[in-house]
Amino acid sequence: MSGKDVALALADLVAIALFIYGLHELNSPATARRGNRLAMVGMAIALVAILVQTSAIGWWAIAIGVALGGAVGIVAALKVKMTAMPQMVALYNGAGGGAAALISIVEYYVAQNGTAAIDQVIAVSLVLSLIIGSVSFAGSIIAFLKLQEVMTGRPVTYPGQQVVNAVILLGIVALAIWFVASLGTLPAWGFLALVAGAIALGVLFVLPIGGADMPVVISLLNSATGVAVAIAGFEINSVLLVICGALVGASGTILTVAMSKAMNRPLTNVLFGAFGATGGMEPATGSGGPQQIRQASADDVAIMLAYANKVVFVPGYGMAVAQAQHSVKALADQLEKRGVKVLYAIHPVAGRMPGHMNVLLAEANVPYNQLLDMDDVNPEFTTTDVALVIGANDVTNPAARNVASSPIYGMPILDVDKAQNVVVLKRSMRSGFAGIENPLYEMPNCSMLFGDAKASVDELTAAVKAS
Ligand code: TAP
Repeated sequence: MSGKDVALALADLVAIALFIYGLHELNSPATARRGNRLAMVGMAIALVAILVQTSAIGWWAIAIGVALGGAVGIVAALKVKMTAMPQMVALYNGAGGGAAALISIVEYYVAQNGTAAIDQVIAVSLVLSLIIGSVSFAGSIIAFLKLQEVMTGRPVTYPGQQVVNAVILLGIVALAIWFVASLGTLPAWGFLALVAGAIALGVLFVLPIGGADMPVVISLLNSATGVAVAIAGFEINSVLLVICGALVGASGTILTVAMSKAMNRPLTNVLFGAFGATGGMEPATGSGGPQQIRQASADDVAIMLAYANKVVFVPGYGMAVAQAQHSVKALADQLEKRGVKVLYAIHPVAGRMPGHMNVLLAEANVPYNQLLDMDDVNPEFTTTDVALVIGANDVTNPAARNVASSPIYGMPILDVDKAQNVVVLKRSMRSGFAGIENPLYEMPNCSMLFGDAKASVDELTAAVKAS
């Protein structure tokens, strides 16, 4: 091993250590930024090491790729709104899966041209990363198109769907066996059919899933991308790729399981249940009649808040849509000035992506120690004077606790109904993601303040100030 090889291996090791430590730092909002920066440094070290390693074979091509990719990343990070993060993640994930598949395609063509032979281990890794990467690429693109509303977010179903999927899967398996048995010497049409089949499977797998379930699907595809990348690492003998792919695969799997658990839905139901078909765009359905609700004015609510001892803010998807996080912080400041204790209740699947509320509130400089997870905040509600629900709906729905026929029955929720007073800020009586009525709104301790969340919170702040 030359000195250069040792230096390169060390660079890989440092990069890997930084990725792992960076991931660990994402455990808490307080350390998440540092974790991200450490991982960025790790990525920079890895890229430089790759550039040095490939100096003989067109390092400039890699440098152009890094510059172009970096430029797109910077522009996207600056321009893309927080509410559009899920589709951005879908695109990035698609790029990862596509890259893993491209490695396999390149390796196949190199072998076809007789410059390198494919042994059994390489044949298995090549075909697996090709299939998994292509499925992940195509599935992620469909997820992006659904979330971006370029195509319908509703589940796309047609008769015989499962049969078509099964036939494609069988075809893929047959071609894969042929590929391995022939050590990659199957004709080009067979290889192209394998790529086309995997892409078709990715598209057809995601089409029947509702747009609102896409974050879970993206997380699952993310773990698939990780696996494809790790396998591709075996093909080109890159420890860096194997370990990074394994990290992505493992974290994607953990996240997928955590999201399904927080929604109390088995993953099979997310993937094959066509749940969330309405994407929360339909009026609520359930009891069949109009809900009997109490409406409050901003002045009424401001008085309730100003004279409370403890107020718990319960943010949800509507706070993200309204971009009300800074206004929420301003209201909290105003209440704290009057000696009111303010806490924030964070449900694990509030909003539309993991950590959605944490990220928004961190952006508004809300102190981390005021953000309480569901298990920590639920016991607080019985001693809370006002639970102020800001654009949250499903995560506060008591039907999840006590209506066995409800589609969300069993989903852990924030027990806002146990507070002395509940005030719900939303624009109308429309449903949330699950498309169902919320009996909370009819409870005697609940009142509604209709309007855009940001406008309503600003009105409350002004009224508290004036009181
Ligand atoms: P939702 O149940 O979706 O309710 C959000 C509410 O916000 C809606 O009822 C809507 O009512 C209101 N809203 C929308 N825009 C608003 C605005 N500008 N101002 C004020 N209110 C506004 O949200 P949630 O309680 O956060 O629950 C999240 C749901 O998404 C759960 O069912 C969860 O399972 C699902 N989900 C979450 C994730 C992750 S990882 N977070 C992933 C997939 C699915 P109006 O239209 O009447 O205003």
